Amino acid sequence: MKGLILSGGKGTRLYPLTFTSAKQLIPLSNKPVLFRVIEAIRDAGVDDIGIVIGDTGDEIRTAVGNGDRWGVNITYIPQDAPLGLAHAVKISHDFLGDDRFVMFLGDNVIQGGISPLIAEFANSDYNSQIVLTAVSEPQHYGVAELGADGQIVRLVEKPKDPPSNLALVGIYMFDNNIFKAVDAIKPSWRGELEITDAIQWLVENGYNVHPYIHRGWWIDTGKPNDMLDANSYVLEELTPKNEGYVDRSSDVDARVTIEAGAEIINSVIRGPAIIGKDTRIVNAYIGPFTSIHHDCLIENAEISRSIVLENSQIRNVARRIEDSLIGRNVVIHRSPIRPQSHKFTLGDNSVVGLLND
Ligand code: TTP
Repeated sequence: MKGLILSGGKGTRLYPLTFTSAKQLIPLSNKPVLFRVIEAIRDAGVDDIGIVIGDTGDEIRTAVGNGDRWGVNITYIPQDAPLGLAHAVKISHDFLGDDRFVMFLGDNVIQGGISPLIAEFANSDYNSQIVLTAVSEPQHYGVAELGADGQIVRLVEKPKDPPSNLALVGIYMFDNNIFKAVDAIKPSWRGELEITDAIQWLVENGYNVHPYIHRGWWIDTGKPNDMLDANSYVLEELTPKNEGYVDRSSDVDARVTIEAGAEIINSVIRGPAIIGKDTRIVNAYIGPFTSIHHDCLIENAEISRSIVLENSQIRNVARRIEDSLIGRNVVIHRSPIRPQSHKFTLGDNSVVGLLND
């Protein structure tokens, strides 16, 4: 088996964070989503992995390297434009050859890894296995209709009138018949070669496409709130450890991870939470479901259910910050300069939520 990770795309729904960097590298509990995907594939026993990259390819190559760190071999497959998931399969034909493979979207996170799925597919005669899970708003997803025998009748992308609540999770397994499918289909109204159309082609042409129902959590981290939800799930599963320093006037509960070199001074931290390497938390409150990445400073401030990326500072902010996704090298502080007013330097498409008073 080989692995194929899709890490191109534009990530428009995560602007401005993804203007300058890859959405797959945004960390959950201080570890990029893409690293979690690589580990899930490696842990399922697959060590030959291709990564499809687009405009952010250089950043991904720098962050991931040749895969040595995970004991896997990484091959990069540049995609000129994000022309669809099935297009990404098409351009990966040389790398995949005739091997069976698992394709994993580089921005998806799934509970419990993929070893059971891979084991079932590897020992079967299925031509493809897709992963389905029950969701509350199926109209936003690719949706599967199953027949009375539990087999797939059809797949529809973002249906207005969903035939079921079973959404397609971003993990797919194929044999080489998928290349016939991706050659046969035409681009959709949005100009993309859709993987749902390719799978539908397999179903219609008599290939054995097996549905696997996933019962744990799964998150497609497309939008900021999805990131925060995924961060919460991942933090809940983290085994806490303290490799940093906590002074005697601080109160840190049992579900907090403190990475090496981090310092907690006169502060309260309620888990689940993670404080990154060499970060300082001073006279501050860090609430549940919060990840603060490395080399940050949180001083005289309160923050909960948020993600703060590396080298950022939050200082002397009177009101608690909540439900926020804060990028790299950001400074949020009380301005000492008159007039007493809000002063912003924000990137395009930034969103700031102010209180009324
Ligand atoms: P999407 O979330 O469907 O697309 P996107 O990343 O462009 O995001 P947005 O809708 O916010 O603009 O992509 C799912 C994953 O597949 C993601 O990791 C990017 C990757 N991808 C490719 O590698 N090639 C492609 O042609 C497309 C469409 C996506």
